[in-house]
Amino acid sequence: MAYSDKVIDHYENPRNVGSFEKGDETVGTGMVGAPACGDVMKLQIKVNPSTGVIEDARFKTYGCGSAIASSSLVTEWVRGKTLDEALAIKNTQIAEELALPPVKIHCSILAEDAIKAAVSDYKTKHAA
Ligand code: FES
Ligand code: FES
Repeated sequence: MAYSDKVIDHYENPRNVGSFEKGDETVGTGMVGAPACGDVMKLQIKVNPSTGVIEDARFKTYGCGSAIASSSLVTEWVRGKTLDEALAIKNTQIAEELALPPVKIHCSILAEDAIKAAVSDYKTKHAA
């Protein structure tokens, strides 16, 4: 199976790899796993508490090239978005951008789930 140029680019030059300092109140963390293959994705968002806008993001992914590319891509996409806008990101958009083949669609679902988990973690922390 051939990977698209965009997958290879994100795989070879992943954006925003890493994690934020522990205990940062402005960070939401999502950790999700794909039962189908055992891959694990951790995605973090750093939110400006007064504007509700995501200012930065990080990821760590143990997984295939498509999972790494999907998480790298979404760390770019969520920047500058509100939490609600980030929640609106669909795995189909990720799959389309990266030209993922059908067997790799679940890798993009992992990235969508990771965003949702990170947003919900942030909301839980900041629920009044
Ligand atoms: Fe997990 Fe892709 S099957 S690496
Ligand atoms: Fe399982 Fe990509 S996340 S093969």
